[in-house]
Amino acid sequence: MQNLQRCTACPRLADFLAEVRTRRPDYHARPVSPFGDPRARLLIVGLAPGMHGANRTGRPFTGDYAGILLYETLHRYGFADHPESVSADDGLQLTDCRITNAVKCLPPANKPEPAEIRTCNHYLSDELKDASEIRAILALGLIAHKAVLTALGLKQSALAFGHGARHPLPDGRLLFDSYHCSRYNTQTRRLTTADFHDVFEAIRREL
Ligand code: URA
Repeated sequence: MQNLQRCTACPRLADFLAEVRTRRPDYHARPVSPFGDPRARLLIVGLAPGMHGANRTGRPFTGDYAGILLYETLHRYGFADHPESVSADDGLQLTDCRITNAVKCLPPANKPEPAEIRTCNHYLSDELKDASEIRAILALGLIAHKAVLTALGLKQSALAFGHGARHPLPDGRLLFDSYHCSRYNTQTRRLTTADFHDVFEAIRREL
């Protein structure tokens, strides 16, 4: 992705990553690029890299708790050739699926600021524009849902976020919503494995 690896457009995030690189020289600690099939029909949009996951390994949802349910589910529904994503060089292949984040840099306390979400949005917008194959978008959580609407030039009020929702988009694509597969959501059972699988059943019916 053009210039993403050198992006310092959000000063707070760029400073934080510089600090993390000093403390953790073995960490990726740079913007995290999308991962997966460049001709995918399914684009999954997460929130932002986690400190010891994507920010460490350089691959979305890889190396921390949030990726466990996601990659297991991708494997179950035929989008991944292994049920686990361990590191950026583990050979895992995604088929017909790509994973990205609304914000490409690690935010302090896992909380990007609204201005940072807006500043980063042109990357997501380009990802959607450059890939006419995408038929379905899965937003993991409210921030991802809103980022997708912004990236598509839709009003925030156009479509309400709801777990399990299936929204037809004006361009003919579909937007699916799920609660984020974070440790918090899965451990509190706000998101159960069965609920998450149901979302992928619905996606599979369309693809
Ligand atoms: N890791 C990611 O890459 N994205 C998330 O939203 C959470 C963890």
